[in-house]
Amino acid sequence: MRRRIWIYGAVLAVLLASVMLIWRLIPAENSASARNDIRYLIGVSQPNLSEPWRVAMNEEIREEVRHRDDVRVIFTDAAQSSEQQADDVKRLLDLGIDLLIVSLDDPVALTPTISDAYRNIPVIVMGRDVSDYNYTLSIGMDNEMIGKKAGEFALETLGSAGGKVIEVQGLEGSPSVEERSRGFHEALEKRPDIQIVKTLYGDWQRDKAEDLLTEWLERNGDVDLIFAHNEAMAIGACRAVSRAGLNNVDIIGIDGANTENGSVKLITDNRMTGLFTSPSGGKEALNYAIDILNKEKGIPKKVILRSQKITDDSRLDTDSASTASVGSGTRKRDPNKPIVMGFAQVGAESNFRLANTRSVITAAKEAGIELIIENAEQSQKKQIEIIRRFIEQKVDVIAFSPKTETGWEEILQEAKDAGIPVILSDREVNVSDDTLWTAYIGSDMVDEGRRAARWMTEQLTEKDHYRIVELQGTEKSAPAVGRKKGFEEIIRQYNRFEIMESYYADYTFEQGKQKMGDALRKYGKQIDVVYAHNDDMALGAIKAIEEYGLSPGKDIIVISIDATRPAFQALVTGKLNVAVECNPLLGPQLMKAVKDLMEGKELPMKIITAEGLFTQETAKQELQYREF
Ligand code: AHR
Repeated sequence: MRRRIWIYGAVLAVLLASVMLIWRLIPAENSASARNDIRYLIGVSQPNLSEPWRVAMNEEIREEVRHRDDVRVIFTDAAQSSEQQADDVKRLLDLGIDLLIVSLDDPVALTPTISDAYRNIPVIVMGRDVSDYNYTLSIGMDNEMIGKKAGEFALETLGSAGGKVIEVQGLEGSPSVEERSRGFHEALEKRPDIQIVKTLYGDWQRDKAEDLLTEWLERNGDVDLIFAHNEAMAIGACRAVSRAGLNNVDIIGIDGANTENGSVKLITDNRMTGLFTSPSGGKEALNYAIDILNKEKGIPKKVILRSQKITDDSRLDTDSASTASVGSGTRKRDPNKPIVMGFAQVGAESNFRLANTRSVITAAKEAGIELIIENAEQSQKKQIEIIRRFIEQKVDVIAFSPKTETGWEEILQEAKDAGIPVILSDREVNVSDDTLWTAYIGSDMVDEGRRAARWMTEQLTEKDHYRIVELQGTEKSAPAVGRKKGFEEIIRQYNRFEIMESYYADYTFEQGKQKMGDALRKYGKQIDVVYAHNDDMALGAIKAIEEYGLSPGKDIIVISIDATRPAFQALVTGKLNVAVECNPLLGPQLMKAVKDLMEGKELPMKIITAEGLFTQETAKQELQYREF
């Protein structure tokens, strides 16, 4: 008996000791007192941990934290419930986190939660964007582009025979679902013999995708290709087709955490045809989090990571992509010599451009980078010649602001063959092989167009019909294409706006004035709004409106992009109504990227700058601080 009491006593003591230990460990993670030796407490809120991609993200974050004694991270898992995730975020805030990293379950439902958090602390949104601008930084993929690439790969896979396709989407209504789907459909549009026979919503979940597909296949029989919007659902698709005993179905997925259960393994096992990687961004998130908390300058608004195509017989695609992005294919250089950068500037067409050139020169000097800068004077031919000279000079890195989006394949291939990485500055290119360039640093032009349109649709509500004259910059240049696209995407949702006429005015004051004069002679007082794609053209338009005898800002609403000092002055005098910012001060970010690259670090595919929007009311206070 005594022996039994002794055993019970011992068990009780061990239990008590364990409880005490757990009690001490949990508060050590969570309470403010545990923060004595911790500089930064970071919360990571995941919508679920059933997707391998999310597990990989947490693992990457943990790995980064392992190198730091002063950072502690608390992870939460909302088990696929947006309500739960809203609670998790609230709990993390109550625990006193300094920064939140969050990947959203339902971005629409969770937007208010994120906005609330952002009022108190910096917020990094992973993967699926929230539907407004209330966050510090977003890290993710270009979903539309990845969907398009998947669509192009589907065309290639199905070949001339065409076929039936099922698209398994994530959560209905989520922005990344819409974007991936838009890109996929855009690619398939060209081929009427390829039919999307069914769209299913797998809610990003493997089992749901498997069940829905199993049911569909039982009822309808065969399909040729399944495109799943994420890895978990692609794995579900593999399971459904093997359950149905089908072995000729091609499966394309997105994500691809290289885990045992992940789809990379399924490709190797020949059960999945291909996938487009979507790096989790965990490592980048943690590093940017520290930069944000350290209040470093030049934090972008958005970071877009590079996607790589992986198929069993085309692993080369991965290799070439990483060559471009990490710079591992770059020529060897003597680390004791200064980095030499060739910068092929597009011209001197605008106030933006002048400020951009100054910023690059100053930042290169400050960073100790030897800069060779040449002006292409708005000629693509000259810009190509300049780049070719840089290649001959064997510079370490080339940066340029491309005049137009197209026509760069040959010269970029020459740079790649010479092992010289190329960074795109403030304008993107449209080339089929995106491994020809290393990174883009600049604005999201489409979003600038959207923001201009959103302002207009919110302000102009009284009339049934508003007629717009659009002044675009240089034909086929990235800002002209993007700003038009974003603007039209928003105004399409309303009946009252009509673009009566669109002119190319090369981003200059003179052409803006001339083209607006033409518009006024043609349409006179019928014009309600001028949407100018940059300040210089807007200022030219303002002059033309005054010369015509009307009052800019009142008789005709003037909307502009760039938000340089002269535009601020026009806002203050009431001649301009709104200016969407396009930040030309890219020099410091460019130099940081160049240094990182030369140190062998991998650059994100796109680094998008933070930008504001200024009205007549806000411009007054801001004018004094305006640097450009
Ligand atoms: O690429 C950015 C655009 O180029 C600016 O908005 C315009 O002013 C410039 O010339």
